Amino acid sequence: MNDNRIIIFDTTLRDGEQSPGFSMNMDEKLHFADQLSRLGVDVIEAGFPRSSQGDFESVKRIAGRVKGVQVAGLARANSEDIDVAWDAIRGAENPRIHTFISSSDIHIVHQFKKTREEVLELAVAAVKRAKGYTSNVEFSPMDATRSDRAYLAQMVQATIEAGATTVNIPDTVGYSIPSEFGDLIRYLFANVPSIHKAVISVHCHNDLGLAVANALAAVEAGARQIECTVNGIGERAGNTSLEEAVMAVKTRAGLFNCTTGINTKQIMSTSKLLTHITGVTVQPNKAIVGANAFAHESGIHQDGVLKNAMTYEIMSPEDVGIGRSTLVLGKHSGRHAVIERLKSMGYSLSDDELERFFKYFKALADVKKQVFEEDLEVLIGEAVYKEKGRFKVTNVQVSTGMYSPPMTLVTLKDRDRDGAESFDVAHGNGGVDAGVNAVIKITGTGARIRTFNLVAITGGSDALCEVTVTAEEEYEGRMLRVTGNGVNIDISVAGILSFVDALNKLEYRKKVNGIRERVEARV
Ligand code: KIV
Ligand code: ZN
Repeated sequence: MNDNRIIIFDTTLRDGEQSPGFSMNMDEKLHFADQLSRLGVDVIEAGFPRSSQGDFESVKRIAGRVKGVQVAGLARANSEDIDVAWDAIRGAENPRIHTFISSSDIHIVHQFKKTREEVLELAVAAVKRAKGYTSNVEFSPMDATRSDRAYLAQMVQATIEAGATTVNIPDTVGYSIPSEFGDLIRYLFANVPSIHKAVISVHCHNDLGLAVANALAAVEAGARQIECTVNGIGERAGNTSLEEAVMAVKTRAGLFNCTTGINTKQIMSTSKLLTHITGVTVQPNKAIVGANAFAHESGIHQDGVLKNAMTYEIMSPEDVGIGRSTLVLGKHSGRHAVIERLKSMGYSLSDDELERFFKYFKALADVKKQVFEEDLEVLIGEAVYKEKGRFKVTNVQVSTGMYSPPMTLVTLKDRDRDGAESFDVAHGNGGVDAGVNAVIKITGTGARIRTFNLVAITGGSDALCEVTVTAEEEYEGRMLRVTGNGVNIDISVAGILSFVDALNKLEYRKKVNGIRERVEARV
């Protein structure tokens, strides 16, 4: 890899997913990992295998599935974590073990109650153990920015000599500022004799809103891997936002003189997919992917952009995949045309997946004259990745009007009762509310909707609607919280589907996963 190529290490599925409100189930993680490989990230940190059985399974499945991208599993600096991480990632084309231990006295003394010498030994032993499994080993001295510099340099030197091929410098608590962080990286280049044997990486948290700025300062100082997350999600205030860091490097190429392997046209779809899966939207003024990121409100700006976009736009919306709305297909489009279009969008579906996809495509094309790429992306989520849950909606009938009380009939199939169908009717404040009440009557669920988010996928009154809800239910003394999605051309149906999807996820959490215990394993 050339010296000016920045490795994009995505940790959305690890650091991002471990933060409250962003948890994903297995199918969602697989769906997202597929999208990350379309986006062109170099490394997917798929999870922390020893933290739970669920994490182990999903890392393993991602490792066996994605091609052309490295898959990393996180492990604390102990043999059990490393062995389990290896077990989870060994099926990947290019597996990476990422092991870490803290280097700051604050952590060493107060959290681990150890000495610097003991921690150094553990770090070296961890790298050596990981190296016994794979040549691709990353080491992170956690809380590096609050560590004694000379000790940090000693640890970086020792772990490189032990075989680490990447050393990642984390600003774990988001404490650093750009000039200081750049200076730290320069210090390491000047004081670690073996530093050129490894790639220097950075992992910045955003507690002071400086994660992207710090990562870029590190790149200027010689770092060549950025750890980041889509939409900047992650512990507390989040991590370096992938889209911001990548677009900064691209837009200011003359300054950084570096490149990434990211297909920037996939940025918007990736951001939207994450929003869709987690139900957490980005603020409208969020750089690159916020709804207003390319909106020009003032008259002077609009006038300038109409004359020449360069007047007020430093990058084009098309570059990040905004405003494609490419008309693709309709009711009469043949199977071949649809397959070709999916391929050009980066999807390669198995025969079975295509079969399921076509059922959804035909149903949509029958009612919607024009089908856009954005519609296809949502349909793929529905048809290919959505897990089969306990309940399936088989009919919805809504009756509403300005002067008649809304009433909805819902029919549900219950897989736990041999597919028996039950229906009920309820009133409510609108068709969705009435439908949700009908579902509550049929299932007897204690779950309730907490947030409701509606998006029209493409323009026009026949747009496909996507509803994302978060629903909560108390279970064994704890509050379970999930998101559910529903897509339909009718708003009420989409709302009811999203609630039933949430119920299915709650059932799954209760039955299969139990409640994930992350307390001890959290980093
Ligand atoms: O923030 C942090 O220090 C981490 C490490 C595990 C890299 O997430
Ligand atoms: Zn982190």
